[in-house]
Amino acid sequence: MTETAKLRVVDVYKRLWKYVTPHKLIGTIAVIAMASTAIIEMTMVALVEPLMDEGLVAHNLEAISWLPFAFIGVFIARGIAGFSTEASLGWIGRSVISSLRRDVFGKFLTLPSRFIETSSIGPMLSRMTYNVEMVAESVTSVVTILVRDFLTVLAAIGLMLYQSSRLFVSVAVLLPIIAVLIRILGKAFRRYSSKIQDSVGEVTQVTDEVLSANRIVKIFGAQDYEMQRLVAVDEGNRHQNLKLIRSRSLGVAVTQVVFGIGIAGVVYLAGIESSAGRLSPGSFMTFFGAMMLMMQPLRRITNVNATLQRGIAAGRSLFQIIDEPDEVDSGTYRADKVTGTVEFRNIRFSYGGDVQILEDVSLKVDAGTSLAIVGQSGSGKTTLISLLPRFYDVDSGEILLDGVPVQDYALDDLRAHISLVSQDIVLFNDTIANNLAYGQLKTRSKEELLRAAEAAHVLDFTRDLPDGLETMVGDRGVLLSGGQRQRIAIGRALLKNAPVLILDEATSSLDTRSERRIQEALSKLMKNRTTLVIAHRLSTIENADKIVVLDKGRIVESGTHDELLRKNGHYADLHRLQFNDEPAAAG
Ligand SMILES: Nc1ncnc2c1ncn2[C@@H]1O[C@H](COP(=O)(O)OP(=O)(O)O)[C@@H](O)[C@H]1O
Ligand SMILES: [Mg+2]
Repeated sequence: MTETAKLRVVDVYKRLWKYVTPHKLIGTIAVIAMASTAIIEMTMVALVEPLMDEGLVAHNLEAISWLPFAFIGVFIARGIAGFSTEASLGWIGRSVISSLRRDVFGKFLTLPSRFIETSSIGPMLSRMTYNVEMVAESVTSVVTILVRDFLTVLAAIGLMLYQSSRLFVSVAVLLPIIAVLIRILGKAFRRYSSKIQDSVGEVTQVTDEVLSANRIVKIFGAQDYEMQRLVAVDEGNRHQNLKLIRSRSLGVAVTQVVFGIGIAGVVYLAGIESSAGRLSPGSFMTFFGAMMLMMQPLRRITNVNATLQRGIAAGRSLFQIIDEPDEVDSGTYRADKVTGTVEFRNIRFSYGGDVQILEDVSLKVDAGTSLAIVGQSGSGKTTLISLLPRFYDVDSGEILLDGVPVQDYALDDLRAHISLVSQDIVLFNDTIANNLAYGQLKTRSKEELLRAAEAAHVLDFTRDLPDGLETMVGDRGVLLSGGQRQRIAIGRALLKNAPVLILDEATSSLDTRSERRIQEALSKLMKNRTTLVIAHRLSTIENADKIVVLDKGRIVESGTHDELLRKNGHYADLHRLQFNDEPAAAG
Protein backbone atom coordinates (compact mmCIF):
# COMPACT_ATOMS: atom_id res chain seq x y z
CA MET A 1 0.00 0.00 0.00
CA THR A 2 2.70 2.45 1.01
CA GLU A 3 4.59 2.17 -2.26
CA THR A 4 1.64 2.63 -4.58
CA ALA A 5 0.06 5.33 -2.43
CA LYS A 6 2.50 7.55 -4.27
CA LEU A 7 0.99 6.73 -7.67
CA ARG A 8 1.31 9.99 -9.54
CA VAL A 9 -1.55 11.56 -11.46
CA VAL A 10 0.19 10.97 -14.80
CA ASP A 11 0.71 7.33 -13.98
CA VAL A 12 -2.94 6.92 -13.12
CA TYR A 13 -3.85 8.63 -16.42
CA LYS A 14 -1.52 6.40 -18.38
CA ARG A 15 -2.84 3.26 -16.81
CA LEU A 16 -6.44 4.30 -17.31
CA TRP A 17 -5.65 5.05 -20.91
CA LYS A 18 -4.54 1.46 -21.36
CA TYR A 19 -8.09 0.39 -20.62
CA VAL A 20 -9.35 2.59 -23.47
CA THR A 21 -6.82 1.83 -26.21
CA PRO A 22 -8.01 -1.71 -27.02
CA HIS A 23 -11.22 -0.22 -28.39
CA LYS A 24 -9.63 1.34 -31.45
CA LEU A 25 -12.46 0.79 -33.94
CA ILE A 26 -15.23 2.11 -31.72
CA GLY A 27 -12.84 4.83 -30.59
CA THR A 28 -12.32 5.93 -34.18
CA ILE A 29 -16.06 6.04 -34.73
CA ALA A 30 -16.44 8.12 -31.58
CA VAL A 31 -13.75 10.55 -32.67
CA ILE A 32 -15.29 10.96 -36.13
CA ALA A 33 -18.75 11.40 -34.62
CA MET A 34 -17.50 13.99 -32.14
CA ALA A 35 -15.53 15.87 -34.77
CA SER A 36 -18.61 15.88 -36.99
CA THR A 37 -20.72 17.24 -34.14
CA ALA A 38 -18.31 20.14 -33.69
CA ILE A 39 -18.27 20.97 -37.38
CA ILE A 40 -22.05 20.59 -37.80
CA GLU A 41 -22.73 22.90 -34.90
CA MET A 42 -20.47 25.55 -36.38
CA THR A 43 -22.21 25.15 -39.74
CA MET A 44 -25.48 25.84 -37.98
CA VAL A 45 -24.09 29.08 -36.62
CA ALA A 46 -22.55 29.99 -39.96
CA LEU A 47 -25.97 29.66 -41.61
CA VAL A 48 -27.19 32.54 -39.49
CA GLU A 49 -25.14 35.02 -41.50
CA PRO A 50 -26.94 34.55 -44.87
CA LEU A 51 -30.24 34.27 -42.99
CA MET A 52 -29.72 37.68 -41.40
CA ASP A 53 -27.97 39.60 -44.15
CA GLU A 54 -29.78 38.22 -47.22
CA GLY A 55 -33.12 37.39 -45.67
CA LEU A 56 -33.94 39.72 -42.81
CA VAL A 57 -31.91 42.78 -43.87
CA ALA A 58 -31.91 42.65 -47.70
CA HIS A 59 -35.24 40.79 -48.00
CA ASN A 60 -33.74 38.76 -50.83
CA LEU A 61 -35.83 35.65 -50.29
CA GLU A 62 -34.78 34.11 -53.58
CA ALA A 63 -31.18 33.94 -52.46
CA ILE A 64 -31.99 32.07 -49.28
CA SER A 65 -34.60 29.62 -50.53
CA TRP A 66 -32.09 26.82 -49.93
CA LEU A 67 -31.72 27.75 -46.26
CA PRO A 68 -34.65 25.77 -44.79
CA PHE A 69 -33.34 22.63 -46.48
CA ALA A 70 -29.86 23.33 -45.22
CA PHE A 71 -31.22 23.64 -41.67
CA ILE A 72 -33.10 20.34 -41.96
CA GLY A 73 -29.99 18.65 -43.34
CA VAL A 74 -27.82 20.05 -40.60
CA PHE A 75 -30.18 18.91 -37.86
CA ILE A 76 -30.42 15.41 -39.30
CA ALA A 77 -26.64 15.24 -39.48
CA ARG A 78 -26.42 16.55 -35.93
CA GLY A 79 -28.82 13.85 -34.74
CA ILE A 80 -26.79 11.11 -36.37
CA ALA A 81 -23.51 12.46 -35.06
CA GLY A 82 -24.96 12.91 -31.57
CA PHE A 83 -26.31 9.39 -31.47
CA SER A 84 -23.05 7.91 -32.74
CA THR A 85 -21.11 9.86 -30.14
CA GLU A 86 -23.28 8.74 -27.24
CA ALA A 87 -23.46 5.14 -28.36
CA SER A 88 -19.75 4.70 -29.05
CA LEU A 89 -18.59 6.54 -25.94
CA GLY A 90 -21.09 4.61 -23.87
CA TRP A 91 -19.79 1.39 -25.32
CA ILE A 92 -16.21 2.31 -24.45
CA GLY A 93 -17.23 3.45 -20.98
CA ARG A 94 -19.05 0.22 -20.18
CA SER A 95 -16.13 -1.83 -21.54
CA VAL A 96 -13.71 0.07 -19.33
CA ILE A 97 -15.97 -0.63 -16.35
CA SER A 98 -16.08 -4.34 -17.13
CA SER A 99 -12.33 -4.68 -17.61
CA LEU A 100 -11.55 -2.78 -14.43
CA ARG A 101 -14.08 -4.79 -12.49
CA ARG A 102 -12.56 -8.02 -13.74
CA ASP A 103 -9.06 -6.89 -12.83
CA VAL A 104 -10.09 -5.87 -9.33
CA PHE A 105 -12.13 -9.01 -8.77
CA GLY A 106 -9.25 -11.11 -10.07
CA LYS A 107 -7.07 -9.41 -7.51
CA PHE A 108 -9.53 -10.19 -4.73
CA LEU A 109 -9.13 -13.86 -5.67
CA THR A 110 -5.37 -13.85 -5.28
CA LEU A 111 -4.78 -11.41 -2.44
CA PRO A 112 -3.24 -12.88 0.69
CA SER A 113 -5.77 -13.78 3.40
CA ARG A 114 -3.89 -11.45 5.69
CA PHE A 115 -4.65 -8.46 3.47
CA ILE A 116 -8.31 -9.34 2.98
CA GLU A 117 -8.96 -10.08 6.62
CA THR A 118 -7.41 -6.85 7.82
CA SER A 119 -9.27 -4.69 5.29
CA SER A 120 -12.80 -3.39 5.70
CA ILE A 121 -15.20 -5.05 3.31
CA GLY A 122 -17.21 -1.88 2.55
CA PRO A 123 -14.49 0.04 0.72
CA MET A 124 -13.52 -3.14 -1.13
CA LEU A 125 -17.11 -3.53 -2.30
CA SER A 126 -17.47 0.10 -3.30
CA ARG A 127 -14.41 -0.25 -5.50
CA MET A 128 -16.33 -2.79 -7.55
CA THR A 129 -19.28 -0.44 -7.99
CA TYR A 130 -18.71 3.25 -7.30
CA ASN A 131 -15.05 3.52 -8.25
CA VAL A 132 -15.24 1.76 -11.57
CA GLU A 133 -18.25 3.90 -12.61
CA MET A 134 -16.39 7.02 -11.58
CA VAL A 135 -13.40 6.02 -13.61
CA ALA A 136 -15.44 5.28 -16.73
CA GLU A 137 -17.27 8.57 -16.43
CA SER A 138 -13.97 10.32 -16.16
CA VAL A 139 -12.47 8.49 -19.11
CA THR A 140 -15.36 9.27 -21.45
CA SER A 141 -15.28 12.87 -20.28
CA VAL A 142 -11.60 13.20 -21.11
CA VAL A 143 -12.20 11.84 -24.56
CA THR A 144 -15.12 14.21 -25.07
CA ILE A 145 -13.07 17.20 -24.01
CA LEU A 146 -10.07 16.20 -26.04
CA VAL A 147 -12.07 15.76 -29.22
CA ARG A 148 -15.48 17.35 -29.32
CA ASP A 149 -15.06 20.30 -27.00
CA PHE A 150 -11.57 21.06 -28.20
CA LEU A 151 -12.68 20.98 -31.83
CA THR A 152 -15.77 23.02 -31.09
CA VAL A 153 -13.60 25.70 -29.54
CA LEU A 154 -11.20 25.59 -32.49
CA ALA A 155 -14.02 25.81 -35.03
CA ALA A 156 -15.62 28.64 -33.10
CA ILE A 157 -12.33 30.53 -33.06
CA GLY A 158 -11.99 29.98 -36.80
CA LEU A 159 -15.49 31.27 -37.44
CA MET A 160 -14.99 34.26 -35.18
CA LEU A 161 -11.69 35.16 -36.84
CA TYR A 162 -13.34 34.90 -40.23
CA GLN A 163 -16.17 37.21 -39.22
CA SER A 164 -14.14 39.80 -37.34
CA SER A 165 -10.55 39.41 -36.26
CA ARG A 166 -10.71 42.68 -34.31
CA LEU A 167 -13.59 41.48 -32.15
CA PHE A 168 -11.88 38.17 -31.65
CA VAL A 169 -8.93 39.81 -29.93
CA SER A 170 -11.21 40.92 -27.11
CA VAL A 171 -12.43 37.37 -26.66
CA ALA A 172 -8.91 35.99 -26.72
CA VAL A 173 -8.08 38.01 -23.64
CA LEU A 174 -10.66 35.98 -21.73
CA LEU A 175 -9.20 32.58 -22.48
CA PRO A 176 -6.07 32.68 -20.31
CA ILE A 177 -8.08 34.00 -17.37
CA ILE A 178 -10.42 31.04 -17.66
CA ALA A 179 -7.53 28.63 -17.97
CA VAL A 180 -6.05 29.89 -14.71
CA LEU A 181 -9.42 29.57 -12.97
CA ILE A 182 -9.74 25.99 -14.17
CA ARG A 183 -6.38 25.12 -12.69
CA ILE A 184 -7.13 26.62 -9.32
CA LEU A 185 -10.53 24.97 -9.05
CA GLY A 186 -9.22 21.61 -10.23
CA LYS A 187 -6.89 21.41 -7.26
CA ALA A 188 -9.75 21.95 -4.84
CA PHE A 189 -11.76 19.09 -6.36
CA ARG A 190 -9.08 16.49 -6.10
CA ARG A 191 -8.95 16.82 -2.33
CA TYR A 192 -12.63 16.04 -1.77
CA SER A 193 -12.87 13.18 -4.19
CA SER A 194 -10.97 10.47 -2.33
CA LYS A 195 -12.83 11.36 0.86
CA ILE A 196 -16.17 10.93 -0.89
CA GLN A 197 -15.18 7.55 -2.13
CA ASP A 198 -14.08 6.45 1.35
CA SER A 199 -17.35 7.57 2.85
CA VAL A 200 -19.29 5.66 0.19
CA GLY A 201 -17.40 2.57 1.34
CA GLU A 202 -18.39 3.21 4.95
CA VAL A 203 -22.05 3.52 3.97
CA THR A 204 -21.80 0.19 2.13
CA GLN A 205 -20.14 -1.43 5.13
CA VAL A 206 -22.75 -0.38 7.68
CA THR A 207 -25.58 -1.34 5.35
CA ASP A 208 -24.07 -4.74 4.65
CA GLU A 209 -23.64 -5.43 8.37
CA VAL A 210 -27.17 -4.39 9.25
CA LEU A 211 -28.68 -6.58 6.57
CA SER A 212 -26.68 -9.70 7.35
CA ALA A 213 -27.08 -9.31 11.12
CA ASN A 214 -30.71 -8.26 11.02
CA ARG A 215 -31.78 -10.69 13.73
CA ILE A 216 -29.07 -9.57 16.12
CA VAL A 217 -29.98 -5.95 15.48
CA LYS A 218 -33.60 -6.72 16.34
CA ILE A 219 -33.11 -8.83 19.44
CA PHE A 220 -30.60 -6.43 20.96
CA GLY A 221 -32.72 -3.43 20.00
CA ALA A 222 -29.84 -1.89 18.14
CA GLN A 223 -31.96 -0.05 15.58
CA ASP A 224 -31.24 3.37 17.05
CA TYR A 225 -27.57 2.59 17.39
CA GLU A 226 -27.29 1.37 13.81
CA MET A 227 -29.24 4.36 12.58
CA GLN A 228 -26.77 6.61 14.37
CA ARG A 229 -23.88 4.77 12.77
CA LEU A 230 -25.43 5.25 9.37
CA VAL A 231 -26.20 8.89 10.04
CA ALA A 232 -22.60 9.44 11.09
CA VAL A 233 -21.07 7.95 7.95
CA ASP A 234 -23.79 9.39 5.75
CA GLU A 235 -23.22 12.84 7.23
CA GLY A 236 -19.58 12.50 6.30
CA ASN A 237 -20.58 11.55 2.80
CA ARG A 238 -23.07 14.41 2.52
CA HIS A 239 -20.56 16.88 3.86
CA GLN A 240 -17.90 15.88 1.37
CA ASN A 241 -20.37 15.94 -1.50
CA LEU A 242 -21.65 19.37 -0.52
CA LYS A 243 -18.13 20.70 -0.45
CA LEU A 244 -17.57 19.28 -3.88
CA ILE A 245 -20.84 20.70 -5.23
CA ARG A 246 -20.03 24.08 -3.72
CA SER A 247 -16.58 24.31 -5.18
CA ARG A 248 -17.82 23.01 -8.50
CA SER A 249 -20.75 25.39 -8.81
CA LEU A 250 -18.56 28.22 -7.60
CA GLY A 251 -16.26 27.34 -10.46
CA VAL A 252 -19.12 27.57 -12.91
CA ALA A 253 -20.41 30.82 -11.44
CA VAL A 254 -17.04 32.52 -11.52
CA THR A 255 -16.44 31.42 -15.07
CA GLN A 256 -19.83 32.73 -16.12
CA VAL A 257 -19.24 36.11 -14.53
CA VAL A 258 -15.97 36.38 -16.36
CA PHE A 259 -17.82 35.50 -19.54
CA GLY A 260 -20.51 38.04 -18.81
CA ILE A 261 -17.95 40.81 -18.52
CA GLY A 262 -16.37 39.57 -21.71
CA ILE A 263 -19.70 39.59 -23.53
CA ALA A 264 -20.36 43.15 -22.39
CA GLY A 265 -17.03 44.11 -23.89
CA VAL A 266 -17.78 42.29 -27.11
CA VAL A 267 -21.19 43.95 -27.45
CA TYR A 268 -19.64 47.36 -26.85
CA LEU A 269 -16.90 46.77 -29.42
CA ALA A 270 -19.44 45.32 -31.86
CA GLY A 271 -21.35 48.59 -31.69
CA ILE A 272 -18.20 50.54 -32.63
CA GLU A 273 -17.36 48.14 -35.46
CA SER A 274 -20.90 48.23 -36.77
CA SER A 275 -21.13 52.04 -36.87
CA ALA A 276 -17.75 52.09 -38.66
CA GLY A 277 -19.41 49.85 -41.29
CA ARG A 278 -16.98 46.97 -40.72
CA LEU A 279 -19.54 44.51 -39.36
CA SER A 280 -22.85 43.41 -40.90
CA PRO A 281 -25.70 42.30 -38.61
CA GLY A 282 -25.31 38.74 -39.94
CA SER A 283 -21.60 38.68 -39.22
CA PHE A 284 -22.21 39.97 -35.75
CA MET A 285 -24.89 37.33 -35.07
CA THR A 286 -22.65 34.54 -36.34
CA PHE A 287 -19.73 35.85 -34.33
CA PHE A 288 -21.89 36.04 -31.27
CA GLY A 289 -23.36 32.61 -31.92
CA ALA A 290 -19.93 31.06 -32.29
CA MET A 291 -18.83 32.64 -29.07
CA MET A 292 -21.88 31.36 -27.22
CA LEU A 293 -21.38 27.92 -28.69
CA MET A 294 -17.83 27.96 -27.40
CA MET A 295 -18.98 28.85 -23.91
CA GLN A 296 -20.58 25.48 -23.20
CA PRO A 297 -17.51 23.43 -24.08
CA LEU A 298 -15.32 25.77 -22.09
CA ARG A 299 -17.60 25.49 -19.12
CA ARG A 300 -17.65 21.74 -19.54
CA ILE A 301 -13.91 21.81 -19.40
CA THR A 302 -14.10 23.36 -15.92
CA ASN A 303 -16.82 20.95 -14.83
CA VAL A 304 -15.30 17.88 -16.36
CA ASN A 305 -12.04 18.70 -14.73
CA ALA A 306 -13.76 18.01 -11.43
CA THR A 307 -15.09 14.71 -12.71
CA LEU A 308 -11.65 14.00 -14.02
CA GLN A 309 -10.13 14.51 -10.61
CA ARG A 310 -12.74 12.23 -9.13
CA GLY A 311 -11.83 9.68 -11.75
CA ILE A 312 -8.18 10.00 -10.85
CA ALA A 313 -8.90 9.51 -7.17
CA ALA A 314 -11.14 6.53 -7.90
CA GLY A 315 -8.66 5.08 -10.38
CA ARG A 316 -5.80 5.49 -7.96
CA SER A 317 -7.49 3.43 -5.29
CA LEU A 318 -8.29 0.76 -7.88
CA PHE A 319 -4.68 0.60 -8.96
CA GLN A 320 -3.54 0.51 -5.36
CA ILE A 321 -5.53 -2.68 -4.95
CA ILE A 322 -4.42 -4.06 -8.30
CA ASP A 323 -0.80 -3.37 -7.34
CA GLU A 324 -1.05 -5.18 -4.02
CA PRO A 325 1.22 -8.21 -4.04
CA ASP A 326 -0.48 -11.56 -4.59
CA GLU A 327 -0.12 -14.50 -2.28
CA VAL A 328 3.47 -15.64 -2.48
CA ASP A 329 3.47 -18.51 -4.95
CA SER A 330 7.11 -19.07 -5.79
CA GLY A 331 7.20 -22.81 -5.29
CA THR A 332 7.33 -25.05 -8.33
CA TYR A 333 7.17 -28.48 -6.77
CA ARG A 334 4.21 -30.55 -7.89
CA ALA A 335 3.25 -33.95 -6.59
CA ASP A 336 0.85 -36.17 -8.49
CA LYS A 337 -0.14 -37.71 -5.23
CA VAL A 338 1.10 -37.22 -1.71
CA THR A 339 1.04 -39.86 1.01
CA GLY A 340 0.13 -37.15 3.49
CA THR A 341 2.86 -36.97 6.11
CA VAL A 342 2.54 -33.60 7.79
CA GLU A 343 5.20 -32.11 9.97
CA PHE A 344 5.37 -28.79 11.83
CA ARG A 345 8.88 -27.86 12.95
CA ASN A 346 9.40 -25.14 15.54
CA ILE A 347 6.62 -22.97 14.26
CA ARG A 348 6.34 -19.40 15.44
CA PHE A 349 3.55 -17.22 14.24
CA SER A 350 1.85 -13.92 14.98
CA TYR A 351 -0.79 -12.00 13.07
CA GLY A 352 1.47 -8.97 13.09
CA GLY A 353 0.68 -7.48 16.49
CA ASP A 354 2.77 -7.93 19.59
CA VAL A 355 0.88 -11.06 20.54
CA GLN A 356 2.67 -14.28 19.71
CA ILE A 357 -0.09 -16.67 18.60
CA LEU A 358 2.00 -19.82 18.13
CA GLU A 359 5.20 -20.42 20.01
CA ASP A 360 7.62 -23.17 19.05
CA VAL A 361 5.03 -25.68 17.89
CA SER A 362 6.44 -28.97 16.62
CA LEU A 363 4.43 -32.03 15.71
CA LYS A 364 4.39 -34.82 13.23
CA VAL A 365 1.41 -36.63 11.75
CA ASP A 366 2.23 -39.82 9.92
CA ALA A 367 0.53 -40.48 6.63
CA GLY A 368 -2.93 -41.94 7.08
CA THR A 369 -3.15 -41.19 10.80
CA SER A 370 -5.24 -38.70 12.68
CA LEU A 371 -4.17 -35.91 14.96
CA ALA A 372 -6.62 -34.15 17.21
CA ILE A 373 -5.88 -30.66 18.43
CA VAL A 374 -7.68 -29.56 21.56
CA GLY A 375 -7.44 -26.47 23.68
CA GLN A 376 -9.46 -23.55 24.91
CA SER A 377 -10.91 -21.20 22.36
CA GLY A 378 -8.31 -18.66 21.37
CA SER A 379 -5.46 -21.06 22.02
CA GLY A 380 -4.47 -21.00 18.35
CA LYS A 381 -5.99 -24.18 16.94
CA THR A 382 -7.54 -22.62 13.85
CA THR A 383 -4.44 -20.55 13.32
CA LEU A 384 -2.26 -23.65 13.42
CA ILE A 385 -4.22 -25.55 10.80
CA SER A 386 -4.50 -22.51 8.52
CA LEU A 387 -0.73 -22.52 8.12
CA LEU A 388 -0.73 -25.86 6.30
CA PRO A 389 -2.67 -24.70 3.20
CA ARG A 390 -0.66 -21.45 3.53
CA PHE A 391 -3.53 -19.10 4.21
CA TYR A 392 -0.85 -17.47 6.30
CA ASP A 393 2.88 -18.07 6.24
CA VAL A 394 4.89 -18.87 9.34
CA ASP A 395 7.24 -16.30 10.88
CA SER A 396 9.82 -18.96 11.51
CA GLY A 397 10.03 -22.72 11.47
CA GLU A 398 8.94 -25.04 8.73
CA ILE A 399 5.89 -26.99 7.65
CA LEU A 400 6.44 -30.06 5.52
CA LEU A 401 4.05 -32.13 3.48
CA ASP A 402 5.60 -35.43 2.47
CA GLY A 403 8.93 -34.02 3.59
CA VAL A 404 8.73 -31.05 1.22
CA PRO A 405 8.36 -27.54 2.70
CA VAL A 406 4.91 -26.18 1.88
CA GLN A 407 6.51 -23.05 0.36
CA ASP A 408 8.18 -25.25 -2.25
CA TYR A 409 4.87 -26.50 -3.60
CA ALA A 410 3.04 -24.55 -6.27
CA LEU A 411 0.12 -23.10 -4.26
CA ASP A 412 -2.61 -24.71 -6.32
CA ASP A 413 -0.89 -28.08 -6.08
CA LEU A 414 -0.41 -27.80 -2.33
CA ARG A 415 -4.07 -26.96 -1.84
CA ALA A 416 -5.18 -29.69 -4.19
CA HIS A 417 -3.89 -32.21 -1.64
CA ILE A 418 -5.83 -30.71 1.24
CA SER A 419 -9.52 -30.77 2.06
CA LEU A 420 -11.04 -28.50 4.65
CA VAL A 421 -14.19 -28.13 6.66
CA SER A 422 -13.74 -24.75 8.25
CA GLN A 423 -15.14 -23.40 11.46
CA ASP A 424 -17.22 -20.70 9.80
CA ILE A 425 -19.10 -22.46 7.08
CA VAL A 426 -19.51 -20.33 4.01
CA LEU A 427 -22.01 -21.40 1.43
CA PHE A 428 -22.52 -19.60 -1.85
CA ASN A 429 -25.86 -18.31 -3.07
CA ASP A 430 -26.45 -21.28 -5.32
CA THR A 431 -28.01 -24.73 -5.19
CA ILE A 432 -27.04 -27.38 -2.65
CA ALA A 433 -25.60 -29.50 -5.46
CA ASN A 434 -23.42 -26.64 -6.69
CA ASN A 435 -22.27 -25.93 -3.15
CA LEU A 436 -21.22 -29.55 -2.84
CA ALA A 437 -19.50 -29.71 -6.23
CA TYR A 438 -17.79 -26.37 -5.70
CA GLY A 439 -14.82 -25.09 -7.72
CA GLN A 440 -12.76 -27.82 -9.28
CA LEU A 441 -15.18 -30.40 -7.92
CA LYS A 442 -17.52 -29.36 -10.77
CA THR A 443 -16.04 -32.13 -12.88
CA ARG A 444 -17.04 -34.91 -10.48
CA SER A 445 -19.66 -37.36 -11.66
CA LYS A 446 -23.24 -37.34 -10.47
CA GLU A 447 -22.65 -40.69 -8.72
CA GLU A 448 -19.71 -39.34 -6.75
CA LEU A 449 -21.75 -36.31 -5.79
CA LEU A 450 -24.60 -38.47 -4.55
CA ARG A 451 -22.25 -40.74 -2.62
CA ALA A 452 -20.69 -37.77 -0.84
CA ALA A 453 -24.10 -36.26 -0.14
CA GLU A 454 -25.26 -39.59 1.25
CA ALA A 455 -22.19 -40.05 3.48
CA ALA A 456 -22.46 -36.52 4.86
CA HIS A 457 -26.18 -37.10 5.51
CA VAL A 458 -27.10 -34.26 3.19
CA LEU A 459 -29.64 -36.48 1.48
CA ASP A 460 -31.39 -36.90 4.85
CA PHE A 461 -32.77 -33.42 4.61
CA THR A 462 -32.80 -32.79 0.86
CA ARG A 463 -35.17 -35.72 0.45
CA ASP A 464 -37.90 -33.64 2.06
CA LEU A 465 -37.23 -30.55 -0.05
CA PRO A 466 -39.31 -30.14 -3.20
CA ASP A 467 -36.25 -29.24 -5.25
CA GLY A 468 -33.95 -31.71 -3.49
CA LEU A 469 -30.29 -31.09 -4.22
CA GLU A 470 -31.31 -28.27 -6.56
CA THR A 471 -32.65 -26.18 -3.68
CA MET A 472 -31.15 -22.69 -3.46
CA VAL A 473 -29.41 -22.08 -0.13
CA GLY A 474 -29.80 -18.27 -0.02
CA ASP A 475 -27.19 -15.67 0.82
CA ARG A 476 -24.34 -17.43 2.63
CA GLY A 477 -26.73 -20.33 3.16
CA VAL A 478 -29.19 -18.47 5.44
CA LEU A 479 -32.08 -20.63 4.29
CA LEU A 480 -30.53 -23.71 5.91
CA SER A 481 -29.91 -24.61 9.53
CA GLY A 482 -26.40 -24.56 10.94
CA GLY A 483 -26.32 -28.33 11.02
CA GLN A 484 -27.48 -28.60 7.41
CA ARG A 485 -24.82 -26.16 6.32
CA GLN A 486 -22.22 -28.16 8.18
CA ARG A 487 -23.29 -31.35 6.47
CA ILE A 488 -22.94 -29.69 3.08
CA ALA A 489 -19.45 -28.52 4.02
CA ILE A 490 -18.55 -32.03 5.11
CA GLY A 491 -20.00 -33.44 1.89
CA ARG A 492 -17.91 -30.97 -0.06
CA ALA A 493 -14.77 -32.16 1.73
CA LEU A 494 -15.72 -35.80 1.18
CA LEU A 495 -16.20 -35.15 -2.50
CA LYS A 496 -12.77 -33.60 -2.77
CA ASN A 497 -11.30 -36.83 -1.50
CA ALA A 498 -7.87 -35.32 -0.78
CA PRO A 499 -5.12 -37.18 1.12
CA VAL A 500 -5.02 -34.55 3.87
CA LEU A 501 -8.22 -33.60 5.63
CA ILE A 502 -8.67 -30.73 8.06
CA LEU A 503 -11.78 -30.64 10.20
CA ASP A 504 -12.11 -27.48 12.26
CA GLU A 505 -15.02 -28.01 14.62
CA ALA A 506 -16.72 -29.64 11.68
CA THR A 507 -19.57 -31.13 13.68
CA SER A 508 -20.12 -28.40 16.26
CA SER A 509 -23.57 -27.46 14.96
CA LEU A 510 -24.90 -30.99 14.92
CA ASP A 511 -26.93 -32.61 17.64
CA THR A 512 -25.36 -35.60 19.33
CA ARG A 513 -27.26 -38.14 17.28
CA SER A 514 -26.54 -36.62 13.91
CA GLU A 515 -22.98 -36.18 15.03
CA ARG A 516 -22.67 -39.87 15.86
CA ARG A 517 -23.91 -40.80 12.42
CA ILE A 518 -21.70 -38.35 10.61
CA GLN A 519 -18.84 -39.39 12.82
CA GLU A 520 -19.17 -42.86 11.35
CA ALA A 521 -18.92 -41.41 7.89
CA LEU A 522 -15.99 -39.30 8.95
CA SER A 523 -14.23 -42.26 10.55
CA LYS A 524 -14.58 -44.18 7.33
CA LEU A 525 -13.24 -41.20 5.49
CA MET A 526 -10.36 -40.68 7.89
CA LYS A 527 -9.12 -44.18 7.28
CA ASN A 528 -5.92 -44.09 5.20
CA ARG A 529 -6.03 -40.34 5.23
CA THR A 530 -4.06 -37.83 7.23
CA THR A 531 -6.56 -35.95 9.33
CA LEU A 532 -6.10 -32.90 11.49
CA VAL A 533 -9.19 -32.57 13.60
CA ILE A 534 -10.29 -29.89 15.99
CA ALA A 535 -13.42 -30.68 17.97
CA HIS A 536 -15.00 -28.92 20.85
CA ARG A 537 -16.61 -32.15 21.98
CA LEU A 538 -13.86 -34.42 23.20
CA SER A 539 -16.00 -37.51 22.71
CA THR A 540 -15.56 -37.12 18.98
CA ILE A 541 -11.80 -37.31 19.10
CA GLU A 542 -11.20 -40.09 21.57
CA ASN A 543 -10.22 -42.41 18.75
CA ALA A 544 -7.62 -40.10 17.26
CA ASP A 545 -4.19 -41.67 16.88
CA LYS A 546 -2.68 -38.77 18.71
CA ILE A 547 -3.97 -35.79 20.60
CA VAL A 548 -2.11 -32.55 21.29
CA VAL A 549 -3.28 -29.96 23.78
CA LEU A 550 -2.65 -26.37 22.80
CA ASP A 551 -2.52 -23.70 25.44
CA LYS A 552 -1.76 -20.08 24.58
CA GLY A 553 -0.07 -21.16 21.39
CA ARG A 554 2.14 -23.83 22.91
CA ILE A 555 1.77 -27.59 22.89
CA VAL A 556 1.51 -28.48 26.53
CA GLU A 557 0.62 -32.14 26.24
CA SER A 558 0.48 -34.87 23.66
CA GLY A 559 -0.39 -38.55 23.56
CA THR A 560 -3.35 -40.83 23.05
CA HIS A 561 -6.64 -40.35 24.83
CA ASP A 562 -5.81 -42.99 27.45
CA GLU A 563 -2.27 -41.77 28.02
CA LEU A 564 -3.46 -38.23 28.50
CA LEU A 565 -6.20 -39.21 30.91
CA ARG A 566 -3.66 -41.11 32.96
CA LYS A 567 -1.37 -38.09 33.00
CA ASN A 568 -4.13 -36.23 34.77
CA GLY A 569 -3.07 -32.88 33.31
CA HIS A 570 -4.70 -30.33 30.98
CA TYR A 571 -6.49 -32.89 28.87
CA ALA A 572 -7.89 -34.70 31.86
CA ASP A 573 -9.12 -31.33 33.17
CA LEU A 574 -10.83 -30.51 29.91
CA HIS A 575 -12.32 -33.96 29.83
CA ARG A 576 -13.71 -33.72 33.33
CA LEU A 577 -15.24 -30.32 32.57
CA GLN A 578 -16.86 -31.61 29.41
CA PHE A 579 -18.36 -34.62 30.99
CA ASN A 580 -20.23 -32.47 33.43
CA ASP A 581 -21.41 -30.31 30.52
CA GLU A 582 -22.07 -33.05 28.02
CA PRO A 583 -25.88 -33.17 28.18
CA ALA A 584 -25.96 -29.52 27.09
CA ALA A 585 -24.20 -30.27 23.81
CA ALA A 586 -25.00 -27.94 20.97
CA GLY A 587 -27.86 -28.67 18.61
N1 LIG B 1 -7.19 -13.19 11.14
C1 LIG B 1 -6.73 -12.88 12.36
N2 LIG B 1 -6.07 -11.72 12.54
C2 LIG B 1 -5.60 -11.38 13.77
N3 LIG B 1 -5.73 -12.15 14.86
C3 LIG B 1 -6.37 -13.31 14.75
C4 LIG B 1 -6.92 -13.73 13.49
N4 LIG B 1 -7.51 -14.94 13.69
C5 LIG B 1 -7.33 -15.25 14.99
N5 LIG B 1 -6.65 -14.29 15.64
C6 LIG B 1 -6.23 -14.33 17.04
O1 LIG B 1 -5.42 -15.46 17.21
C7 LIG B 1 -5.72 -16.11 18.43
C8 LIG B 1 -5.98 -17.57 18.18
O2 LIG B 1 -7.17 -17.69 17.42
P1 LIG B 1 -7.66 -19.07 16.83
O3 LIG B 1 -6.52 -19.71 16.14
O4 LIG B 1 -8.87 -18.80 16.03
O5 LIG B 1 -8.03 -19.87 18.15
P2 LIG B 1 -8.90 -21.18 18.32
O6 LIG B 1 -9.20 -21.73 16.98
O7 LIG B 1 -8.05 -22.08 19.16
O8 LIG B 1 -10.11 -20.77 19.06
C9 LIG B 1 -6.87 -15.40 19.06
O9 LIG B 1 -6.35 -14.60 20.10
C10 LIG B 1 -7.40 -14.52 17.96
O10 LIG B 1 -7.80 -13.29 18.49
MG1 LIG C 1 -10.97 -22.06 16.05
